[in-house]
Amino acid sequence: MTQDELKAAVAQAAIEYVLAEVPQGALIGVGTGSTANYFIDALAAHKDRYRGAVASSEATRQRLEQHGIAVFDLNEVSELPVYVDGADEIDAGLHMIKGGGGALTREKIVAAVARTFVCIADASKQVEVMGRFPLPVEVIPMAREYVARELSQLGGKPVLRAGFITDNGNQILDVHGLQITAPKALEERINQIVGVVTNGLFALRPADVLLLGTPQGVQRFPG
Ligand code: 5RP
Repeated sequence: MTQDELKAAVAQAAIEYVLAEVPQGALIGVGTGSTANYFIDALAAHKDRYRGAVASSEATRQRLEQHGIAVFDLNEVSELPVYVDGADEIDAGLHMIKGGGGALTREKIVAAVARTFVCIADASKQVEVMGRFPLPVEVIPMAREYVARELSQLGGKPVLRAGFITDNGNQILDVHGLQITAPKALEERINQIVGVVTNGLFALRPADVLLLGTPQGVQRFPG
């Protein structure tokens, strides 16, 4: 199976999860990226069953609206039963690196509100120790060089994502060369650097469910 076929399979498994677990008329939190796009396209067939969606990025908002799915501002929402999103890396504790698509801050906000975070990922995203995928850190532009120096002190090699501005008007430093053996502590430590908006570690709020696309079929964690 190709990676795209694995992504489509986990997206379909997430639809089945949502149909089974999320009551009719609820809102669905929707992530960003190519795997999330498969989920959005599959969700379109069930759009009349749900009130609408909360989007984690402008790109996702546009794709949902193109399918005729109503998109709600998170500030109008007090309850979000589920958030479905991809990941760049995920470990056995369901801690993740996210932000390859640059939407990490809004993704983390929507994930914070959601009762259940369902991560959809192909098998290439599963790792023992995170850090081979460079850790995205969203920074206020005027703080960029200061934050980069602080990240270097933590042992990483920050590289500015050239020509990229987030939906929030900020920049991203991709931090190479980290071996993330204590993801919660590192997430907290990076958050404390002044000028950091968010970092792409999702360890303090990990996924609750992982649907992993493998050539042998979709596996669910915890089992
Ligand atoms: C976007 C993300 C994505 O979930 C992550 O990059 C995975 O993307 P894809 O499904 O395209 O592999 O965090 O900010």
